[in-house]
Amino acid sequence: MPPMKFKAVIPAAGLGTRFLPATKAMPKEMLPVVDKPAIQYVVEEAAQAGIDDILVIIGRNKNAVANHFDSVPELEVKLKDKGDHDRLRRVLESSDLADIHFVRQGEPKGLGHAVLRAKAHVGSSSFAVLLGDDLIDERDILLTTMLAEHERTGAAIIALMEVDPDQIHLYGAADVEATDNADVVKVMGLVEKPKREDAPSNLAIIGRYVLSPAVFDVLEHTEPGKGGEIQLTDALQELAADPDGPGVYGVVFRGRRYDTGDRVDYIKAIVQLAADREDLGPELRPWFKEFAAGL
Ligand code: G1P
Repeated sequence: MPPMKFKAVIPAAGLGTRFLPATKAMPKEMLPVVDKPAIQYVVEEAAQAGIDDILVIIGRNKNAVANHFDSVPELEVKLKDKGDHDRLRRVLESSDLADIHFVRQGEPKGLGHAVLRAKAHVGSSSFAVLLGDDLIDERDILLTTMLAEHERTGAAIIALMEVDPDQIHLYGAADVEATDNADVVKVMGLVEKPKREDAPSNLAIIGRYVLSPAVFDVLEHTEPGKGGEIQLTDALQELAADPDGPGVYGVVFRGRRYDTGDRVDYIKAIVQLAADREDLGPELRPWFKEFAAGL
């Protein structure tokens, strides 16, 4: 069998209320993480896993996302004339990553609703969903493992990570059973943002999913759940509970993940990523130490 060809879907239609007023006229996916907008990291991650067809689900005020991945000939000419090859390369990179398409969500009615908007574009392909609030360090492998696992089993694959039990109410939580592979678990059930005492485990869904189009049939009848929104977690719970389907498996991620979803975590992500960068780290690391010592 030829290898499967995957598409990627990046929901970017949330309101970004936690970052107001920065997100009043700009989508939160465009907030810079060091010197790239958060969404570019996610597009790069998909491209690195071999996906060259990406659909971004956009909402109100989202033209900036489309503009970012377009080429800007005036800027390119200017940088070329100045001989600024390094910046030129980085500008070109952002428009050469993949074939990027856009669809509007209309009303933000939840992640499940956003993913359902991808139905026409995705067609009969299996696809990855990548959420821009979770950044996975490019040195650690996650998506490639998930795609391979989907190809092997045909099941829906989610990324799971252990979190502090005090934090589980911020995530979808999974009830799991071990498999022969220490990095893969069978998902028996899922609950969206449970209270700590109701959580089946401290394994949280982090924003990576590999799904087959079967999920659209489920999303079409998924009722609003937590927060009155149509939840992807609820659709996956239905797939996990279906005795006749291939089920849901989780790939347990133990690498470096940066959360950009709230302000404190966003600042931590920038500090960590900048400290690790070859061009910025050497100047920043001693300063961080000095700064921390003075706190
Ligand atoms: C979404 C999902 C949740 C998941 C989280 C990961 O929630 O609904 O299950 O754990 O992403 O970031 P959100 O953070 O968009 O509220």
